[in-house]
Amino acid sequence: MKGIVLAGGLGTRLLPLTKITNKHLLPIFDKPMIYYPLQTLINAGIEDIMIVTGGNNAGDFLRLLGNGKQFGLKDINYTYQEGEGGIAEALDLAKNFADGEKTIIILGDNIIEKNITKEKEEFEKQEEGAKILIKKVSNPSSFGVPELDGEKVTGIEEKPKHPKTDCAVIGIYMYDSHVFDIISTLERSERGELEITDVNNAYIKNETMTCSVLDGWWIDAGSSPENLAEATQLVIKSGANNLT
Ligand code: DAU
Repeated sequence: MKGIVLAGGLGTRLLPLTKITNKHLLPIFDKPMIYYPLQTLINAGIEDIMIVTGGNNAGDFLRLLGNGKQFGLKDINYTYQEGEGGIAEALDLAKNFADGEKTIIILGDNIIEKNITKEKEEFEKQEEGAKILIKKVSNPSSFGVPELDGEKVTGIEEKPKHPKTDCAVIGIYMYDSHVFDIISTLERSERGELEITDVNNAYIKNETMTCSVLDGWWIDAGSSPENLAEATQLVIKSGANNLT
């Protein structure tokens, strides 16, 4: 299974912090933000990793992460997203890298407390389809919100005004190779993006989507200055972080 960290986009919600650097290079406690999602994949046993970045500071990722030696990796693959066409557009850039294998995607601003090895292993055994992780939140309208029938997800709404549950779909997604066929059928949303929620809804429609509740805290550190500050507090409070 291959891993992909999505770190494109322009980070406009964090201006002026993102005027001269990429959001994923901003500090969360004592490490740049991207260290956390990268380490989450590595902790789950993923060794083959691609980083999708974009904007004016893409070269800084190479300077920071190099070939991944400090993370115990043999190498890291990089690609570049022009513009900010959405999470699914960024993922599509990793099609050749995925090369028909299952993939695990993590958004470059998502930080979690614990380990997702169990969920990854469950998905490895899953014959086909996709797997998402959900978490109860106080502000579901800021996220993709799952509609649930028991443990089954029956649909996802992206940032709904009137959320049907108090859960968020977190930014860790597991897909079979069919994901790239799905992306090729997507149309741009009102905000001009290829939406990952549309990808997930396609799997739900095919009845090949599974879902688990994430254990431990989760934060979308890049969605506001408040979340950026809270992420640092969470990392400090939980004692170091998930970094080795
Ligand atoms: O954090 C979880 C949420 O992430 C989900 O609940 C939502 O369903 C999902 O749409 C997403 O929402 P956000 O509005 O928070 O996504 P954002 O635009 O902040 O992008 C998240 C990461 O995805 C960002 O840190 C880098 C990557 N990205 C995003 C865009 C728009 C790219 O690589 N390229 C892009 O064009």
